[in-house]
Amino acid sequence: MISEKLKAARAYESENSKKIPETDRPLYHVTGGVGWINDPNGFSMYKGEYHLFFQYHPFSTKWGPMHWGHVKTKDFVTWERLPIALAPDTVSDGAGCFSGSALELSDGRMLLAYTGVERKKDAEGIEREYQQQCIAVGDGIDFEKASNNPVIAKELLPEGFSAHDFRDPKIWQENGMYYLAAANRASDGSGAILLYKSTDYLHWSFAGIIDQCRNEYGRMWECPDCFLLDGKRILMTSPQEMLSDGAEFHAGNGTVFLYGEGEQWEAFKRTGIQSIDYGIDFYAPQTLLASDGRRIMIAWMQNWATSDYANEERKFFGEMTLPRVLEMKNGKIIQNPVKEIADYYGEKTEYHNVSLKGEMELAGISGRVLDMTVTAKSAFENSFTFFKMRLAKSKQMDTMISYDARTKTVRIDRSRSGVRADIVNMREFFVTSESGRIKFRILMDRHSVELFVNDGEQAATMMLYTPVEAQDIVFETDGEVILDVEKYDLEEKLCRKNMM
Ligand code: FRU
Repeated sequence: MISEKLKAARAYESENSKKIPETDRPLYHVTGGVGWINDPNGFSMYKGEYHLFFQYHPFSTKWGPMHWGHVKTKDFVTWERLPIALAPDTVSDGAGCFSGSALELSDGRMLLAYTGVERKKDAEGIEREYQQQCIAVGDGIDFEKASNNPVIAKELLPEGFSAHDFRDPKIWQENGMYYLAAANRASDGSGAILLYKSTDYLHWSFAGIIDQCRNEYGRMWECPDCFLLDGKRILMTSPQEMLSDGAEFHAGNGTVFLYGEGEQWEAFKRTGIQSIDYGIDFYAPQTLLASDGRRIMIAWMQNWATSDYANEERKFFGEMTLPRVLEMKNGKIIQNPVKEIADYYGEKTEYHNVSLKGEMELAGISGRVLDMTVTAKSAFENSFTFFKMRLAKSKQMDTMISYDARTKTVRIDRSRSGVRADIVNMREFFVTSESGRIKFRILMDRHSVELFVNDGEQAATMMLYTPVEAQDIVFETDGEVILDVEKYDLEEKLCRKNMM
């Protein structure tokens, strides 16, 4: 049964999607068909394909009553758009279908777990929003919401936890049981990840607290994900209201890997914490386990602090990152773009052992839709202190990525990247490499830059607003640097493949 609300949203999306100019869309990053998107939802495998849902307000480029948009892919690079999956059309989710997850049931159906937001009066008669966990089951296109929704509401909260901040269920199966982790706010005002258990996904019981913020890393924690990587338990979450701490954590909305030990999720013991992405636009990541065993992560390639900066001239707001593979290396998680991107490589331009002094451009090294790896080495001991790259450069604009060999700091700077507002434009982070060598892998897709440092030891992501005509790339140093550059064009093949 498709509600009138869902019908209307589907119709609106298909009517308007054609109006988004081809030249405006990213070529290999997911966006909405039209309107606004935020968090990835339900990133999962179903019948051999990968599905991705997302927080969606098709009717404008601003956040509004949340629907679930839907796309699928075979290779994480090109995506097919499917009809909108959920609309806020029942009592328990009438004020929004917030973030959640998905899994394939053994009977071949697809299950969605999401947060229903319900507006109703509290005991004092004051209208408030309640967040509660809901289920919908379907065939991968159309979904029926469970008749006993919400399946987890305030009655299943431990003492002192919040009925208003209770969201973003991650559901999985383990040892014949269903598990669900959801974000909540404890009585100290800060986040906690609660665990629930069920034998049938419709009836749940509280199973424990996986981890708790205790006002140490931000306040409310959002969008949990729990998985094993190389035998280690990893809890991912997106804290709000972080305080900055050195170069590891920046203020505002962050994303963290919490490393842990313990026989089971109920007994999770945190042993470490690390920022997931050191850039500007990265939030609410989710992972799936691919059929070949890879743990693959995708995130919203935006941030809330700049979300008011939706460019009115554009028909859509918000993109997802390119999915990244997570691996454990020397006890730390590294991340790299999915290898499938190489299937879309066009022309290759490469240079080896080029001596860079001052400023230099290299013939054929330019563009806005590309995958490029640059290695900069000292020509001799302490032969340089800084190495800079200016991307998306025109006369007036450029986007800078730089490395300071003295402090081993990488800086990304988009303050000359077409932004017309006083928003965060710069971030810095430390790298662990030897000081005279740095490796940058840069993926650009018109208005985005995803940077992977030293084979994925760190990542930094940002959106740009520079007109696409700005295509130049310039290298610069204060001393002498030996450069290797390998660039693949992605535009040509992807333009022909263009999805939506
Ligand atoms: C994170 C978030 C989630 C919530 C959703 C609402 O970006 O705030 O916690 O479910 O966005 O759109």
